[in-house]
Amino acid sequence: MPETIWRAKAIKPDYPSLTEDTEVDVAIVGGGITGITTAYLLSKTGLKVALFESYQVGCGTTAGSTGNLYTMVDSRLHHVQAKFNDETAATVAGSRTTAIDLIENLVQKYDISCDFKRQPWILYTESGQKDETIEKEKKTLKKYGLEVQEVKELPLPFKTEQAIKVENQAQFNPSAFVTGLAQKAENKNCRIYENTPVHHIEKGKPHILHTPNAKVKASKVILATHTPKGVYALQTAIYPYREYALAVKLKSGVYPEGIFWSTDSKTHPSLRSYETDEGKFLISVGYHHKVGQEEPGKDYFRNLEKNLRKNYDVESVAYKWSAQHYKSSDGLPFIGESTDDNIFIATGFSTDGLTYGVVSAIIFRDIITGKRNKWAEVFKAKRFTPLKSAKTYIKENLNVMGEYLKDIPGKEDADRFSKIKSGEGKIVELKDEKLAVHRNEHGNLHVCSAVCTHMDCIVNWNNNEKTWDCPCHGSRFKTTGEVIEGPAFSPLDKRQIESKK
Ligand code: FES
Repeated sequence: MPETIWRAKAIKPDYPSLTEDTEVDVAIVGGGITGITTAYLLSKTGLKVALFESYQVGCGTTAGSTGNLYTMVDSRLHHVQAKFNDETAATVAGSRTTAIDLIENLVQKYDISCDFKRQPWILYTESGQKDETIEKEKKTLKKYGLEVQEVKELPLPFKTEQAIKVENQAQFNPSAFVTGLAQKAENKNCRIYENTPVHHIEKGKPHILHTPNAKVKASKVILATHTPKGVYALQTAIYPYREYALAVKLKSGVYPEGIFWSTDSKTHPSLRSYETDEGKFLISVGYHHKVGQEEPGKDYFRNLEKNLRKNYDVESVAYKWSAQHYKSSDGLPFIGESTDDNIFIATGFSTDGLTYGVVSAIIFRDIITGKRNKWAEVFKAKRFTPLKSAKTYIKENLNVMGEYLKDIPGKEDADRFSKIKSGEGKIVELKDEKLAVHRNEHGNLHVCSAVCTHMDCIVNWNNNEKTWDCPCHGSRFKTTGEVIEGPAFSPLDKRQIESKK
């Protein structure tokens, strides 16, 4: 896992791995903001809960996020209103505002040291550009009770044309929040296990979760894994993207206070600053592409840095990392019970996942304890609205189909393994089998089958992050084959190959 600025500044959790069979009311898979907040809320209900994290609590996508909390959404609230209706837009705005308030309450109640502070959210257009998005968003945000102001001057070192500002949004260190809340969630009814990947779920009554050293019986299972583990039809309606982040120190210049979004994120990725005991950092996040489909030879980190250097006097890049997000076909997340009885999922958060993770936790707590939840119908995971999703659905699934049919370029035969340099990965075809071959920095080869264990797509080499990424539904694997994230349960199959260096 990359050392993001959030992980570097958070306490390091230390929970045991599961070694003995156990039985619980609710098993939660995934120790990010969705899983830990759900565990915390359920721990107050008297239910017996256990949470299983493959690596460490708060180290996955939560640690790769922007650390921004806002009512607005990446796809813009006025689009939600136009595509659905007033009630849906009001639910999105209301639920997200409630989630931010809950985070603030928890931070205050438990004195969680995570640098939470209320900050404004700003949306601007570049100089010389008029964008009707600003006007439309302003009107819509006002309609749902947000106080929107127009602003003429922004603390940014380039010219802007129009800007709106909404006060009272927030920023924090998401890893520090999650690790801090985990300490409050754990009690005799709620256990947390790290380094405990769930690699199979035997569906039944109860469900049985298989982990490396023990099994777990659970009446209800919550897949707080960003995308549901296993095979679900819903995976045709969520599309995986990666984007990149840098935290830099400046020689001079203003570190802007707030959440800054441009209407043209290609020119200006999002900006925020963060202050630690090492001083201030400027954080920029952007340049997304579909997982496993980066442009060959493109260095996304380098491009992000170049972009920052155009406007800022950058002294050094202190941290760089990337993270995944899943866009849903109709622009709303899927939260609730899946098509499998008593298995619950939360996915399709786009880049708005910190806040939607907490919305999901509230919904899960209510559904599982039999309480009515006024947002559940809008976000329910069983919904599928072909008319509202058709265009995106067809486009994205043609892309997935293209990946299945692709004849992977750059085939090499085994004698040419020697051409793979240290640090490189290549797909090699040997006796009609596609292999994912990586040479590590000591010159040793790791060879795995290149067939993704989720649904048999062929993985691609991610040279920016040195991983094998699946272009179909976003599973990612280490060079040695272990699952990093995504819907795949199992690692890539290892292969023993004799080769010359
Ligand atoms: Fe679905 Fe790889 S993630 S086939």
